[in-house]
Amino acid sequence: MSSTKSIFICQNCGTQSAKWLGKCTVCGEWNTFVEEIVNKKQTTSKLSIQISGNQPLSLENIKATKNKRFSTGIDEFNRVLGGGIVPGSLVLLGGDPGIGKSTLALQLALGLSDRKILYTSGEESLQQIKLRAERLNKQNENCLFLCETSLEKLIAHTDKQKPDLLIIDSIQTISTETIESSAGSVSQVRECTSSILKFAKKNDVAVILIGHITKEGNLAGPKVLEHMVDTVLQFEGDINYMYRILRASKNRFGSTNELGIFEMRINGLMEITNPSEQLISKVSDGVSGTAIAATIEGARPILIEIQALVSSAAYGTPQRSSTGFDLRRLNMLLAVLEKRAGFKLIAKDVFLNIAGGLKISDPATDLAVICSILSSNIDVAINHKNCFAGEVGLTGEIRAVSRIEQRIAEAEKLGFTKMFIPRLNKGFDSSSLKIEIVKANRVEEVFKNIFS
Ligand code: TYD
Ligand code: MG
Repeated sequence: MSSTKSIFICQNCGTQSAKWLGKCTVCGEWNTFVEEIVNKKQTTSKLSIQISGNQPLSLENIKATKNKRFSTGIDEFNRVLGGGIVPGSLVLLGGDPGIGKSTLALQLALGLSDRKILYTSGEESLQQIKLRAERLNKQNENCLFLCETSLEKLIAHTDKQKPDLLIIDSIQTISTETIESSAGSVSQVRECTSSILKFAKKNDVAVILIGHITKEGNLAGPKVLEHMVDTVLQFEGDINYMYRILRASKNRFGSTNELGIFEMRINGLMEITNPSEQLISKVSDGVSGTAIAATIEGARPILIEIQALVSSAAYGTPQRSSTGFDLRRLNMLLAVLEKRAGFKLIAKDVFLNIAGGLKISDPATDLAVICSILSSNIDVAINHKNCFAGEVGLTGEIRAVSRIEQRIAEAEKLGFTKMFIPRLNKGFDSSSLKIEIVKANRVEEVFKNIFS
């Protein structure tokens, strides 16, 4: 027996309420409650159920079938997944509209010629997919395409075709007949994902689900979607720049530290295997206001160019602007500069830019930021063979940073001759290094060394 009941669900966070609310009490968003019909199963008490089939097992009795991963054909994608796609796993690929999710998925599908793939799209027509494939200049006879938005039909097709990999673009366009609410609503997304999950685990089909992102940058649909899938990948980057970063924010079959870097080209996404070389522009040699930071993104060392421009403030309130770097952190570093290097905060406009449109959250970037600002302020260029790694504290002390060996090795590989690191970073052997390592406790020591 089942009865229908309607409830109100917040489309932002999935909170349920019996009445309509103007503002969600959990996430604080306005106008997000939508009435959805749910079928409530009336269950009779099943305490005395007869157990058959599934039995609890001890560890020795569980047969270990080693997850035979298969390569995606895109090394950067494999790296983020932890080595390749695990059969039967569900991967959620999220990202802003227009960032390149469909392109990445299609490129992957067309590159995997030794596997059977079913690519279903509810967003684009077959003609549009063909045009895109022509643009990518790739072909794959083992990849079939289908335009479908009904969950039941999609599962029936998959069952018939028995592909190794099913790609669904996007989960928000799929809907099931068992629920009355519209496609993309929280209950539809949840129900469809859970049916796909059951099907995938039972038939050992790997699934890549493409998901939309809300304006706050979270995957649309409630957190429950992220709990259900095995891997959550985020595809990010600034639409105005060509670099795209793929990161895992959850991975049941690998680490979440890895990241893949791509460049959006006219004919698709290209893997960037040597990001540091690409991110350091050769034109700014000998120009004041640039400094190279040895950062770690995920588990990868990347050398990045920091550009600063300091000019006299024309209006009462000086301007501070930063792209790719936290503005509050920039203000803090400016205050440190005022105290330690006589930098007149009130009289200067400061603009900071991280090359390539990347967003950097590694605190070890601080030292390069502070040096680039000072370099622009006094209009003296920093030797372009120098690079920096160090977190700057409120008193101007330089704090230890993680994985210093990796940062040094990357700087040495790229031909830098001098690297400034925190004195507190001990315990590594620098005797065999070609690069000169300068250890410093305070920012003043670094300034003296580079500007004298
Ligand atoms: P798309 O994959 O449609 O984004 P999403 O599925 O995440 O919404 O990517 C669209 C953008 O990528 C579009 O603005 C055009 C650009 N693009 C290229 O620059 N080169 C290409 O080869 C392709 C296919 C797209
Ligand atoms: Mg798309």
